[in-house]
Amino acid sequence: MSTCTLHPPPIQPTPQSHVLVIGSGLAGLSAATNLTSQNIPVILLDRAPKPGGNSIKASSGINGSPTRFQPGPDGEFYNDTVKSAGVVFSGSTLKERELRESLIATVTRGSKDAVDWLVDEVGVDLSQVAQLGGHSFPRTHRGGKSGKPPGASIVGALLEGLDGSSLFELRTNCCVTRVLKEAEEIVGVEYVAGDEKHILRGPVVFASGGFAGDVRGMVSEYRPDLAGLPSTNEARGGSQSLLEGVGAKLVDMDQIQVHPTGFLDGKDESATVKFLAAEALRGEGGILLLGDGKRFVNEMETREHVTDVITGSATTVEGELRQWDVTLLLDEGAAAALDSHMQFYLWKGLMRKTTMGDLGQAVTDTVQGYADVVSGRKKDEFGRAAFGNWMLSEVQPESVAYVGKVTPVLHFTMGGVIFNSHSQVLDGQGEPIPGLWAAGEVTGGLHGQNRLAGSSLLECAVFGRIAGNEAAAFYQQHYLFGSNA
Ligand code: FAD
Ligand code: SIN
Repeated sequence: MSTCTLHPPPIQPTPQSHVLVIGSGLAGLSAATNLTSQNIPVILLDRAPKPGGNSIKASSGINGSPTRFQPGPDGEFYNDTVKSAGVVFSGSTLKERELRESLIATVTRGSKDAVDWLVDEVGVDLSQVAQLGGHSFPRTHRGGKSGKPPGASIVGALLEGLDGSSLFELRTNCCVTRVLKEAEEIVGVEYVAGDEKHILRGPVVFASGGFAGDVRGMVSEYRPDLAGLPSTNEARGGSQSLLEGVGAKLVDMDQIQVHPTGFLDGKDESATVKFLAAEALRGEGGILLLGDGKRFVNEMETREHVTDVITGSATTVEGELRQWDVTLLLDEGAAAALDSHMQFYLWKGLMRKTTMGDLGQAVTDTVQGYADVVSGRKKDEFGRAAFGNWMLSEVQPESVAYVGKVTPVLHFTMGGVIFNSHSQVLDGQGEPIPGLWAAGEVTGGLHGQNRLAGSSLLECAVFGRIAGNEAAAFYQQHYLFGSNA
């Protein structure tokens, strides 16, 4: 899949240098905001016609611990992340493991500052906290019930702040095709806009995202066994190879996350790009059922685990895509906690409101069994211990439920360029490549085998800001007063 297929009008060359940020998702916007706040001029390039990348779609929230919104003590964020990273983490060499540990420490310890920054300086509401899969405590932050989903509110607020800065320029429909290196230092990029090539000079922050939508391209190359699955991402290739072209090393490229719950829209079951059924739907109390109306898994386990159980137990749905027949069910309490999400899913026809009577005896028995677990009358056979805002205790035929069909979907790529806790991109010898930083989904090594829900927005904010700070210092030294001045 080509990464550059757009044809907008040509753009005039810019003679002076800037810090160049590639990708307008949360990682790129975080870097750009830290740069402009230090009076550094920024040009942000994005190949898409609109800014926001996958970040703008984020639906469950951003992790932070401890924060002013997070109830109770939580010393487990680092350990939960290591556990989720699995054998990719534990099986790595000592040197590699040290790097992975430092990335995990940076992101988990930096989470409080990241949430504080978004709330206090960017002005985003992150006052609701949910517990999601693989987390020992609630730590995924989003806005109040009636607000926008977290990705849209964070991206919108950052763009608004940047739009007001004379130091910032966003160029959309501009696809970076080459990273320029002179005397071992990164000095700019080449990009294509329409039919024209352009060169920009300056240090480079790469925040170009992942490749989980490139099912026929990079997904098939690194994980042929996942070909045929639908995705939550648009069908675009990743840009990691541009960094390989200047000596960067890639890691964990075969570690591709399959999220257990993409909506299977009855109006178009063959859609290759699916709306995500946010993990918060389960976090706030929702359950998963097989065709026989029974639960089959602890819905609060990691995505990797829930997906594996679905693909091993559920019936497949006929068609060209590989899809499974699973139902997501919420009671009124869980649905009310996600009011604006639910309104969207109901409006789109991805979920429907119904009654237990309509769902039949098998589902009623299952839901009563779960309600007994939630109210402490019995222990969960699957070990679930967190139930969000589920309220239904005594199931009646008229009890309201919300249901939707879901299926596993490609969602996130854990692999990418090797980088360090200063967001510097590393070469084959583990040395930083001068003038080049990376942040967000384009990087690899942090999540290992499975990314925890909510930790992608977090890594974008943490490492995006670090990249911004590092590039600002470099620009001042090398471009304002140094050899490139
Ligand atoms: P992106 O936001 O994807 O931005 C990358 C940008 O780079 C894109 O705009 C792309 O056009 C541009 N680009 C790529 N190559 C080039 C090039 N060569 N030249 C110019 N531009 C280029 N994570 C969470 O933590 N919490 C959530 O609740 C959550 N919900 C999600 C819901 C959905 C539906 C999806 C799809 C993902 C969700 N994620 C969530 C994951 C998370 O949103 C992404 O992994 C993360 O936002 C990636 O951010 P990024 O800045 O690295 O890249
Ligand atoms: C989701 O809302 O389920 C996605 C969260 C994430 O990818 O972290």
